[in-house]
Amino acid sequence: MNKTQPSVFEELHNAQFPQLKPGTVYADWTGGALPPKMLIEAHSAMLQTTAFGNPHSHHGPSATAMDQIMETRQAILDYFNASPDEYEVIFTSGATGAIRLLEHYKYVGGELLLLADNHNSCNGLRETAKYSGAVTTRYAPINNDLTIDEEALSGFLSYPRSNGQKLFIYPAKSNYAGTIHSLDWVRHAKNKGWDVMLDAAAYVANNRLDLSKVKPDFIPLSFYKMFGYPTGLGCLIIRKDAYPRLHKKWFAGGSILLVSVMKDFYAPEALGYARFEDGTVNFAMIPAIKAGLEFLKSLNGTGAHATSIATELYDQLTYMGDWFNKPIIHSARGNDTVTFSIKKDGKIVDAWLFEQFANARGVFVRTGCFCNPGVNEKVFGYTIEAYERLYNDKIMPTAITIDKLREFSGDAPIGAIRASFGYANSFADVEHICHVVREFLRAA
Ligand SMILES: Cc1ncc(COP(=O)(O)O)c(C=O)c1O
Repeated sequence: MNKTQPSVFEELHNAQFPQLKPGTVYADWTGGALPPKMLIEAHSAMLQTTAFGNPHSHHGPSATAMDQIMETRQAILDYFNASPDEYEVIFTSGATGAIRLLEHYKYVGGELLLLADNHNSCNGLRETAKYSGAVTTRYAPINNDLTIDEEALSGFLSYPRSNGQKLFIYPAKSNYAGTIHSLDWVRHAKNKGWDVMLDAAAYVANNRLDLSKVKPDFIPLSFYKMFGYPTGLGCLIIRKDAYPRLHKKWFAGGSILLVSVMKDFYAPEALGYARFEDGTVNFAMIPAIKAGLEFLKSLNGTGAHATSIATELYDQLTYMGDWFNKPIIHSARGNDTVTFSIKKDGKIVDAWLFEQFANARGVFVRTGCFCNPGVNEKVFGYTIEAYERLYNDKIMPTAITIDKLREFSGDAPIGAIRASFGYANSFADVEHICHVVREFLRAA
């Protein structure tokens, strides 16, 4: 990309994000995308001119809402190139709500396999697996460069510990370091008899998933991570032939055909999205999704733009500081994310101190473990013995707070700094971030 030419992204940056004060840098794209003002305006206009009613009713405004919801389901499938014969969309409150639908997975003596690089919303499924008939939960390790340990994963997939139903969960893109994991693992795992949940929440922000080529069973995502608006809405894109592997553990309004309080009996909705959408879906906001998808399509791909900005930051950080105090970059060059630590006096500085310093100067980055303990443990080399010392000897589990972790971790850093980018960023953002890092290094 030519850094001196105004690009479609620079024009977008200048015209569409009045919510960003001049001189500030938003570099937390994996946390959430920024909505361009045209999306908010278009949706606001729609709400002011169209009456939407509860889609469970049958009057005009209700039918309008239902039409919009059905059109949006189709638009989502179209965007991901998914055939409606093969896939369906279940609306949820976000990626976590979508992932939690796998609490209904029937292991029948089978197992759960997680990549060590997973968001906690996926890690948490190991708890429900315990009382949903899973024999075991295992973690496939990652390498020091944060890529998948291919030999180990192949072994786990080829030699399951059970004959029951088996679920493998991994992210298409790591939310910790932006690592893109090969989508080939979907086919490989399915060939070995595994169901696959491909966590696409971080991936779809800057990458287009083509479900005519890759065919996972379950794909959770949040729409605010793609185009910033609306929040509180996501979906599980599900392969229709995977429904029988889910046993819905409860019912709720909207998900049943017949129920009585006179007897412990109910008839659920037919196997399909209606059985899994509890209560009333977010019918006022769902119509905004179509415009968001159209907006992303109009940009014709955001990955190259985001990656070139991140790469510029990566390179500038690489040449910063003296040899004793060089920033440590944990992520690989060539992702849309740079995850790093800053050193002062030869020691890694508490990432949170940098976050506060940067925030006061209008640079918004994320710090911590990003809800991804597996990669954080790999990056900082924690041992289970250290954890156990911390948990067992020092403080009561109920009293564990970030401040306590800091207090007891001594010299060990408890998290990193993550700068992640998307369509609203420009190269000037990199200069600003680097300026703030240098200022931080100089500050006493
Ligand atoms: C890879 C990944 N999975 C799941 C989630 C959870 O998404 P949400 O908080 O929108 O439910 C996130 C959020 O950052 C994520 O990055």
